[in-house]
Amino acid sequence: MSNALCRRLGIEHPVLLAPMAGEAAKPALAAAVSGAGGLGMLGCGYMTPQAVRDTIRAIRATTDRPFGINLFTPLDWTADPEKVVAYRAQLAAAHADLGIPEPDIPNKYEESYAEQLAVILDEAPPVFGCTFGIPGPDEMAALKARGILVVGTATTVAEAVALEAAGVDAVAAQGAEAGGHRGSFLVPFDAALIGTMALVPQIVSAVSVPVIAAGGIADGRGVAAALCLGAQAAAIGTGFLLADEAGLNMAYRGALQGGGVHDTVLTRAFSGRPARGIRNAFLERLAGSDAEIPDYPVANAMSRTMRAAAAKAGRAEYLSLWAGQAGALARAEPAAAILHRVMAEARQALVQAL
Ligand SMILES: Cc1cc2nc3c(=O)[nH]c(=O)nc-3n(C[C@H](O)[C@H](O)[C@H](O)COP(=O)(O)O)c2cc1C
Repeated sequence: MSNALCRRLGIEHPVLLAPMAGEAAKPALAAAVSGAGGLGMLGCGYMTPQAVRDTIRAIRATTDRPFGINLFTPLDWTADPEKVVAYRAQLAAAHADLGIPEPDIPNKYEESYAEQLAVILDEAPPVFGCTFGIPGPDEMAALKARGILVVGTATTVAEAVALEAAGVDAVAAQGAEAGGHRGSFLVPFDAALIGTMALVPQIVSAVSVPVIAAGGIADGRGVAAALCLGAQAAAIGTGFLLADEAGLNMAYRGALQGGGVHDTVLTRAFSGRPARGIRNAFLERLAGSDAEIPDYPVANAMSRTMRAAAAKAGRAEYLSLWAGQAGALARAEPAAAILHRVMAEARQALVQAL
């Protein structure tokens, strides 16, 4: 199953490990997917520049196959004092329940994108991916000059067109089913909730760069469908979260393997930016107070201590359980086995369909 994008990327199978910042962003996971013939993309958005560098080197130490690094392009945000106070009060109740000290106000809310990008330009991973926006013209030129292939994330046709005009080499079309944060940047979030089935063919028709389908694809049937819609590859996120190499904490794993995995919602409760995750008590409690949640990345940084303590204590009700709508299809297997199973299923699905 080779096509122009696979040849360009130098990969055997049209499947990507979708970039997932946070706990699953382990070099071993990306290296395993790349080593098995897919493209391991790692979400490094929350990492310090030094950790981004270490991550790239750790992947390179494990595999000589192509891989990619993904960052969050910076957003305009404010740390609205009233929202910070109100959100802190919500966190304080959770901290008390978890038996940890009262929440602090973090001294910084996000890592420096400029410094992270400087590491990308220095280390030159084969692929760079971004979400939440478009790299600026100088950044794009610098990435190209280093021979780095650039993938942008679109949740609407207009975003895909804008990314192509800015010079990306491929567009990841992220449907509303997708787990984690939404990449939307041109329209309000609720105007960008287009399902993968509708989004992918429209983006394929609108741009001339290759399209990668993402969102709700967690087995070979989904991969086959994405290819039939005109995508040249499928990105699987949630479907890799139970991979041995992802090493998720037990409460998160338990939630992905429990009945609640069928009940995902878009929430700002943990980070300030809409993201899809499994419904739990914390997000339910904040559902009525959306106006009091500060912007991303302020809320994200403020809730970090609660989430880390909850992971340690095995308390899923305080974790951001990011997952897509096809999360129930995820299997606990080594990442290479997931990739090979998915490819076998995709071949079978395509044969059966014909
Ligand atoms: C835990 C988690 C973290 C994510 N982090 C990122 C990220 O850092 N950058 C990004 O572009 N997309 C991120 N996403 C979105 C994925 O790249 C991808 O679009 C999504 O997982 C596809 O949908 P699926 O989960 O149904 O496979 C994340 C998704 C999850 C589940």
